[in-house]
Amino acid sequence: MIRTGSIVRVRNLVKEQKSGSKEIGLVPTMGSLHDGHLSLIRKARRECDYVVLSIFVNPAQFSPAEDFDIYPRDLKSDLRLAHNEGVDLVFTPSVQTMYPKDYSSYVILEKITEILEGAIRPTHFRGVTTIVAKLFNIIQPDSAYFGQKDAQQLAVINTMVRELNYPIKIVRCPTVRDKRGLALSSRHQYLTPPQLKEAAGIYCALVEGVALIKSGVSDFGRIRRRIIDVLSNYGLKRIDYVSFNQWDSLLPVRKPGGKILISLAVRLGKVRLIDNIILDA
Ligand code: PAJ
Repeated sequence: MIRTGSIVRVRNLVKEQKSGSKEIGLVPTMGSLHDGHLSLIRKARRECDYVVLSIFVNPAQFSPAEDFDIYPRDLKSDLRLAHNEGVDLVFTPSVQTMYPKDYSSYVILEKITEILEGAIRPTHFRGVTTIVAKLFNIIQPDSAYFGQKDAQQLAVINTMVRELNYPIKIVRCPTVRDKRGLALSSRHQYLTPPQLKEAAGIYCALVEGVALIKSGVSDFGRIRRRIIDVLSNYGLKRIDYVSFNQWDSLLPVRKPGGKILISLAVRLGKVRLIDNIILDA
């Protein structure tokens, strides 16, 4: 496994592989790897000849009030895990490399980035699309792997790839959960054991929503109220949104039919937790 922070070196290494017509798979991450990230790496390993993992805590997607400075970082453990999973190349650029002084180019998507997470974190997706576009341009993978855990991020990347004509296949990977159903997240390190127990209510609430839709309930106001009840029963009362959107346009859903994304965000301690389920209704 090779590790480098140099754009030129990455380009040369990938070019070498491409000249042998190898399929290149990219897994973009911010590190502090857990089993959710590893599932993306494993899928890429199964489907591609050459797997590139990027680890970069991207300042552009954090607002000044967010946790960029204290975001968990553990490069030593990440490199060990990556090595064990058979990653070929780890790209670990510095902030200076990705955003040199007086940096000024951003990729901005309208509409789809203005709802849900984007309504609460207005500059977040411009940071995500900018860094992902840069990684795509540097690495030029054939496929890139993203988790459904961040469903809106995935929908935004799908839109960007389609609209900006990137010749890259975006692979959606299922959400990895712990035994209580809680979707794994690097930010769980901020939570206490009792808070983690409360957080398990998120998945129960989503499952309740799915059950209601499947049982034929079509009043989304009623389903939303039931989801909020379940969250409150677990002590989760600071709810940013509970939303029903068409997958993956994220247009609002008014009646059952097609693929429906049920997504929600709650605050627990200092952390915001997001989760979702996509169902065929
Ligand atoms: P990060 O939060 O490190 O996540 C990297 C990838 O892992 C994302 O595609 C995310 O959806 C996926 N992931 C995280 N938790 C998961 C889980 N429990 N199950 C399955 N997949 C999971 O998302 C980012 O980084 C950044 O925004 C990035 C795309 C790297 C751009 O900076």
